Amino acid sequence: MNGKDRVVSGMRPTGPLHLGHYFGVLRNWIALQEDYDCFFFVADWHALTTEYADPRRIKGFIPELVVDWVAAGLDPERCVIFRQSQVKEHMELHLLLSMVTPVSWLERCPTYKEVAAELAAKELNTYGFLGYPVLMAADILIYRPKFVPVGQDQLPHLELTREIARRVNYLWGDFFPEPGALLTEAPKLPGLDGRKMSKSYGNSIALGEDLASLKKKVSGMLTCAKRARLKDPGDPKECNLFPYHELLTPLGKREEIIEGCLSASWGCGDCKKLLTEALTAFLEPIQARRNALLAHPGRLGEILDAGDAKAREAARANLESLRELINFVF
Ligand code: TRP
Repeated sequence: MNGKDRVVSGMRPTGPLHLGHYFGVLRNWIALQEDYDCFFFVADWHALTTEYADPRRIKGFIPELVVDWVAAGLDPERCVIFRQSQVKEHMELHLLLSMVTPVSWLERCPTYKEVAAELAAKELNTYGFLGYPVLMAADILIYRPKFVPVGQDQLPHLELTREIARRVNYLWGDFFPEPGALLTEAPKLPGLDGRKMSKSYGNSIALGEDLASLKKKVSGMLTCAKRARLKDPGDPKECNLFPYHELLTPLGKREEIIEGCLSASWGCGDCKKLLTEALTAFLEPIQARRNALLAHPGRLGEILDAGDAKAREAARANLESLRELINFVF
């Protein structure tokens, strides 16, 4: 270690990332690598909790995810980027934690019923799906981190992680620090139609979005309902475009936009043109790095192999101490 506080976080591999992922979580990870000892991983076992019927697809999603991480600015020289399933220590800790975790804690986890209902067609009455938060607790606690940067949706899982840590500390002796959440401040970026941005809604802009398709998507975005005609004044607070400008357009230009919208001195088309320009400027360097990485097919594998090895080393040391604590060293 390097005297810096440690952070750990993961993402399930579900395909290429979009702007919602970037502004919701990834941007935060990228900022943290400056000041923390960072471990970021692909939660491929977690993907199995819902994709167990078709496990062969998951491997292909991993490079798609990691290429976006690195293209967006995660630097494998400054943080450990690895695959959950290649650090078997997560699995042993998961088993140990499962021994102390009451089933009732898992059944009352709000995400459990929500996701099971949402994916009703998938038959999620499995042992593995119920234990999702226990595996997540193992992913985190194995590194004994200070913080876990996550989106709002993961807070119930993080709370369970702390409860499990407390239970281990109470039963077996003080071992795990209770990790805190590091929430991203960014406002939620709406999708093109105003709902939450999600690939399954078809309302997202990918980090690797083709720039011609970007232009089309922006011009089709829903704007403020008040502006039925060009001379009707609008309100940026009610417009779906404005959260994008808040993230991507410099303050001076943004004030112009507000003024133009409130006074109806310019149209939504002008606003969209500016947004297309801002998004293009934002995505171009990411896509240049992405293409450079994809031009060296072995590179992502090397990054992950090196990360797996570093993560394994850190995980092994902590697991060894825990085994000593519970007299499981033979
Ligand atoms: N459950 C997280 C998600 O769906 C992914 C995840 C798995 C995770 N293990 C983790 C996040 C550990 C943070 C820490 O996004």
